[in-house]
Amino acid sequence: MGKLTSLLLFALISAANAGPRFDCLPEPNGNQGACEARGCIWKEDDTGKNAPWCYFKDGVGYKLDSQQGTTYNLRKNSGPSNPWGADSTEIKLTTKTIGSVLNVHIGIDGRYEPPVDFPRETQSSDESLTLSTSSSGDFFSFAVVRQSSNRKLFDTSIGGLIFSDQFIQIATYLPSENMYGWGENTHQSLRHDFTKYLTWAMLARDQPPNSGSLDTMNLYGVHPYYMILEPDGKAHGVLIINSNAQEVTTAPGPSLIYRTIGGNLDMYFFPGPTPEMVTQQYLKFIGKPFLPAYWALGYQLSRYGYKGLAEMKTRIQAVRDAGIPIDIGVADIDYMQRYKDFTTGDDWAGFSDYVKTMHSWGMKLILIFDPAIEATYPSFQRAMAANAKFIEWESKSQVQTAIQNLYPMAKDTKIMLGVVWPDNHVAFPDFLDSTNNTQNWWINEFVTYQSQVPFDGIWIDMNEPSNFGTNQDHPWYFDSDDHPDDAPLFCPTNGSNLWEMPPYKTRAVWRFGDANNGAFLSTNTLCMLAQQDGGKQRFYNVKNLYGLTEAIHTQKALLKATGKRGAVVSRSTYPSAGRYAGHWLGDNTARWEDLRTSVIGAQEFNLFGIP
Ligand SMILES: *[C@@H]1O[C@H](CO)[C@@H](O)[C@H](O)[C@H]1NC(C)=O
Ligand SMILES: *[C@@H]1O[C@H](CO)[C@@H](O)[C@H](O)[C@H]1NC(C)=O
Repeated sequence: MGKLTSLLLFALISAANAGPRFDCLPEPNGNQGACEARGCIWKEDDTGKNAPWCYFKDGVGYKLDSQQGTTYNLRKNSGPSNPWGADSTEIKLTTKTIGSVLNVHIGIDGRYEPPVDFPRETQSSDESLTLSTSSSGDFFSFAVVRQSSNRKLFDTSIGGLIFSDQFIQIATYLPSENMYGWGENTHQSLRHDFTKYLTWAMLARDQPPNSGSLDTMNLYGVHPYYMILEPDGKAHGVLIINSNAQEVTTAPGPSLIYRTIGGNLDMYFFPGPTPEMVTQQYLKFIGKPFLPAYWALGYQLSRYGYKGLAEMKTRIQAVRDAGIPIDIGVADIDYMQRYKDFTTGDDWAGFSDYVKTMHSWGMKLILIFDPAIEATYPSFQRAMAANAKFIEWESKSQVQTAIQNLYPMAKDTKIMLGVVWPDNHVAFPDFLDSTNNTQNWWINEFVTYQSQVPFDGIWIDMNEPSNFGTNQDHPWYFDSDDHPDDAPLFCPTNGSNLWEMPPYKTRAVWRFGDANNGAFLSTNTLCMLAQQDGGKQRFYNVKNLYGLTEAIHTQKALLKATGKRGAVVSRSTYPSAGRYAGHWLGDNTARWEDLRTSVIGAQEFNLFGIP
């Protein structure tokens, strides 16, 4: 080899190694000793790009073992191993086309896949995408290539593929920095920023947005979807069907690192070529948005804190008197009797007559409903009588019996009781119940209540689902008049339960601290080990689908109760939620910076199929 050739080769290898750093110690308070104990490299980042200081040595990945048609059997290579659990020795990459959509599935048969009923319809395109693979010795990689331009849209020659039971990572070079999407987060610009490393957390959380500064924390819903505008103006979209706690790092290169802590990597590539066509293709695949009633696009007045019906009337009248257009009145949890769904508060006598008056003015009413049902009153009693299901502990031995024994109707059950707005403990309906008992009960509750208060639309809140005070010795509500005595839910975070305490907890936990200061996957929600659908589903896997599955049944409930199209609006969403519900961007504080980021959020939710 000549000197020049070897110099060139050296330069090429250095360039390849100058790729992104794969974070090897994202946990809080990392240090050099902990990093090197993992066999990783510790090197400060002096480039100002926020690169991780502890990163994997080169060679992380899989090699090709054998190929049968469009299935590639991969085997863990001799590169660095995974600090967050045993690497899966054998994994499988399979690829197929569904119309113009290219699917690449990486994983192990029989592992959890999200139980979401996507229509998977396709729309033809002049463009086609193909998979090209490369295998050299110890290292396998693939690329998704646009045929017309030969451009690599996804290119895993960057390395970094890791697959283990509770930690999965895939990385790619990107064809352009013009990336849009991923959610739900508050983005400071519609286009992502590839000038530095940024890791965006994705786990449904009752978490108000922070619009005032860059903050990569996770909000109410999860959307593992992005669109890229390529250098020649063509566009493509990528969906990863995975519903576990996950995160994505955008990094200089431009490059992308995606991590999740369960399921498989089930990726769908939409060829476009225009941004409009990408969105059409994506929405045909996940399902097009529902058509709301025309009135639902009108002017609305909503607030939390009405002291009674009289105040709501006064406020609406003030708007009417001022000649300000108003189409919809919205009532928050104040209208309920002590925050219990399907009840009307004592200060709201005459609500039904007032709604009829609103209707006579051409106005409509939207009411809020929370998923959690207090374990004390007729709605819960009817649920139990109908064999409706609630999210449950895995076994009787885990039940917090001191709480359970307070409620005769729940006493001998495994129902996981939590605390939300109502005075007493609450149970969370299991919207994945495949017997349909839960959805039938849920629908009936709406039908019955609508015959008392004739609402026109439904606002579903708190459906991440939110639970107050999980794992806290002194939750905030101990100091509140509402329910200072409710013992909080405690999950087994002190033992070795891998649902509660997985080896890799994701930025959705670390953004808020670590176990020493009470940050867990179960913070603000239920225990990860909980079960749904009679033990067929684990909350650890399906938590991010709670808002979607509630929206599916609530849309049915609205149609059945009113006999008309209306509107359901949901705080928590997942791909395809737009088929059943709209969305609002959460509990912001109405500052100018919230107005600014709401414009970005609205555009992103259009990409996600929720106009
Ligand atoms: C539940 O309802 C769905 C949709 O209405 C129906 O397709 C399914 O057969 C029902 N399942 C059972 C067990 O009744
Ligand atoms: C964990 O905490 C619970 C409740 O605080 C306690 O009952 C249990 O014994 C603890 N388990 C372990 C393994 O320390």
